Amino acid sequence: MKKSIKDLTSLQGKTVLVRVDFNVPLKNGEIRDDNRIVQALPTIKHLIENKARVVLFSHLGKINHKNPEQAELDKQKNNMAPVAKRLSELLDLDVIYVPSTRSEELTNTVKNLKDGDVLLMQNTRYEKGEQKNDSELAAYWASLCDVYVMDAFGSAHRAHASTYGVPEILNKEGKETAIGLLVEKEIKSLERCVNPDERPYVAVLGGLKVSDKIKVIEALIKKTDKIIISGAMAYTFFKALGYETGTSPVELDQVDFAKRCLEEGKGKIVLPVDVVVTNAFDNPTEERTVKVNAVPEGFMGMDIGPETRELFKKELQGAKIVFWNGPAGVFEKDQYSKGTIAVCEAITGLKDAFTVIGGGDSAAAAAQFGYKDKFSHVSTGGGASLEMIENDGHLPGIDIISSN
Ligand code: 3PG
Repeated sequence: MKKSIKDLTSLQGKTVLVRVDFNVPLKNGEIRDDNRIVQALPTIKHLIENKARVVLFSHLGKINHKNPEQAELDKQKNNMAPVAKRLSELLDLDVIYVPSTRSEELTNTVKNLKDGDVLLMQNTRYEKGEQKNDSELAAYWASLCDVYVMDAFGSAHRAHASTYGVPEILNKEGKETAIGLLVEKEIKSLERCVNPDERPYVAVLGGLKVSDKIKVIEALIKKTDKIIISGAMAYTFFKALGYETGTSPVELDQVDFAKRCLEEGKGKIVLPVDVVVTNAFDNPTEERTVKVNAVPEGFMGMDIGPETRELFKKELQGAKIVFWNGPAGVFEKDQYSKGTIAVCEAITGLKDAFTVIGGGDSAAAAAQFGYKDKFSHVSTGGGASLEMIENDGHLPGIDIISSN
């Protein structure tokens, strides 16, 4: 068992460095979805109540350090300031915002914190060394604190300076490292998808690329009783079955992998039987619902068809654990959202089932269509939840935290 923030007894007056995942979607400096900030609040409030001095740090977006001009533009776009403002509102206190990641200002402001204060520093990826797990950078951040808390589940699959280098140093120095309340909740839920304690266990996969999900499909073939596959990735499987796929996005270099999956997962893999196809992605002039082996030339798949919606519902019946990652169609376009809505409906309609969304687009879809609260758990980490299943419950950012 990993040491939890609840196991840390004397926090008063201690400087606690917390890696959070505040990688929220931003548009023109406006936060479009603050869920990741909201999900970090229980840990932050727990630390405030226990009179710790809280120092928060997170990455935000991507910074291309290889191209200095682009790096400057990326920095402007991914400035942490709007997050500090939103966090102040949510906590109803003045969060101290330091717009740098390594500076005298940061060191001194941290030193002068009072019990119960909350500080947020600039985006960790402003530092070139963050993603390389640079040891000097990690040593600087480690020097700021007495205790480290990992609460960035969405980044726990990254062995970066903030997620790995810092706790590694603190462990060696005999300082305390622990997981936060969000990471604790995520582990508890996702562990049931890694080692199911009830059956049948059904995975529902969709989205664009097979190549992004190769390893998780391999792992799920071994762990689940059934894998339902839809979304654009289904077309690579149709290709593997020898069907014509029109202009649908097929990953030709993954066709052999899909063939192998169909062999290994014989009787387990469920594919669509009918699909909605159009003659263009944007502004199509023609739309048809066809059998999957009859996609006309020049047409591309946009959603699953009505027979498939029924089939998936039937295949899900009786499931006790469901893991869902990836929409069934182009749900961002109203007319192709029926499949994804049907998947939400079928999963949330199950009796006594433990249902998990593995982050990303599926979480956005469930929220958009009003199903989010009906799932047992909606992970804040898309990549992290997939890697946790792939790696049998292991993620570097969690593995490095001390155990009890
Ligand atoms: C995410 O959004 O998946 C996490 O915050 C990790 O972000 P990254 O893929 O840029 O490392």
